[in-house]
Amino acid sequence: MTRPAVLCRLGALDLDRAAALHAEAFVPFGERAWTRQDMAELLASPGVAGLLLQVEGADAGLAICRVVADEAELITLAVRPAHRRRGAARRLLAVVIDDVRAAGAKTLFLEVAADNPAAQALYKTTGFRIAGSRPAYFRRGGGPAADAVVMRLDLS
Ligand SMILES: CC(C)(COP(=O)(O)OP(=O)(O)OC[C@H]1O[C@@H](n2cnc3c(N)ncnc32)[C@H](O)[C@@H]1OP(=O)(O)O)[C@@H](O)C(=O)NCCC(=O)NCCS
Repeated sequence: MTRPAVLCRLGALDLDRAAALHAEAFVPFGERAWTRQDMAELLASPGVAGLLLQVEGADAGLAICRVVADEAELITLAVRPAHRRRGAARRLLAVVIDDVRAAGAKTLFLEVAADNPAAQALYKTTGFRIAGSRPAYFRRGGGPAADAVVMRLDLS
């Protein structure tokens, strides 16, 4: 019997798994892996919530966002390589959008690396529009920092 995809809230018991999933997605870009402690501090900060997507019993993806007053920020979104191109990110993003809208956000912002066309395509097809840029925003061990494209989605 196959087990379906399950979405659950990221909680204190999921810190190691969430850190591993994040590292698997971002270390290949040269970014620093978040530790369990990083994850714990982030999830304990005001307005922050996370989602974990499991597919057939295995961790497949995560999303973490923050809501402050009427603005929300997608802090991170990651899908394990083995689960990509099957709609996992789209599913996570849809729930993030519903959640932050329900929490009162009117706009959802994010920063995506200028050299990450896969994520930019995901956001553009979800309705995000480019709102600006941040030069040398993403620090990458050893190499040059990558510029960020700031994107926004109007939720009203
Ligand atoms: C970006 C990422 C989250 C996409 O996850 P995913 O589950 O594979 O995405 P989905 O299957 O939901 O794809 C949704 C859409 O995103 C776009 N997309 C996703 N991967 C893509 C790729 N490799 N190339 C081009 N477009 C891509 C497509 O528009 C796709 O729709 P389609 O499959 O109908 O063409 C995943 O590749 C990832 O974790 N990458 C590393 C971490 C990262 O970049 N996170 C985002 C940082 S802001």
